[in-house]
Amino acid sequence: MKVLLINGSPKANGNTALALSEMAKVFEAEGVDAETIHVGNKPIRGCIACNSCAGKGKCVFDDMVNEVAPKFEAADGIVVASPVYYAGPNATVMAFLDRLFYSTSFDKTMKVGAAVAVCRRGGSSAAFDRLNKYFTISGMPVASGYYWNSVHGMTPGEAAQDAEGLRNMRMVARNMAFLVKSIALGREKYGLPVKEQGEMTNFIR
Ligand SMILES: Cc1cc2nc3c(=O)[nH]c(=O)nc-3n(C[C@H](O)[C@H](O)[C@H](O)COP(=O)(O)O)c2cc1C
Repeated sequence: MKVLLINGSPKANGNTALALSEMAKVFEAEGVDAETIHVGNKPIRGCIACNSCAGKGKCVFDDMVNEVAPKFEAADGIVVASPVYYAGPNATVMAFLDRLFYSTSFDKTMKVGAAVAVCRRGGSSAAFDRLNKYFTISGMPVASGYYWNSVHGMTPGEAAQDAEGLRNMRMVARNMAFLVKSIALGREKYGLPVKEQGEMTNFIR
């Protein structure tokens, strides 16, 4: 079992990293491999809607997105943690996720997702909702905790004082470990849910 932990902060050792490291300790204890990938410090541009990925199976911009895509395909789950900027995930995380989810055609059904928003004071639940949209359009179950996953702090390291936020991070990781293990068993016993093919209706009439 393997999960990816995406750090969307430009800071390698900021509060987002701290929230993820709290989760990583739990994954280790639960026997789930966890690889942390720092994307927030990379120059990741947005999607240009060229649709070249539809033919090539990868993004036209050969950067971190194409590097992470095969790791995501092999993983059983993904945690995306972002600092909150103006009550949303930061721009780098959004560019990364738009292109990662749009450019990859492998089946994401039943890979477990978890979103984490890290902020000083406000906007975490809006950022959390936005991040979850990538999972819930992809047939991915979402691991949750006691609260809408947020950790609070301003200057790097301040989130260490948010005992409740960090307790929630540990709970999300425990629930996620349980889900990835349970889904692996369920896939073997029952197979994945059957998908329906159908035309797209674009609300033009
Ligand atoms: C451009 C920018 C916008 C921010 N907007 C918000 C915000 O809307 N709400 C908030 O509570 N904190 C906001 N913050 C503070 C960060 O979310 C906070 O410092 C967080 O701990 C940063 O995480 P990091 O250390 O992992 O980078 C903002 C910070 C920056 C740089």
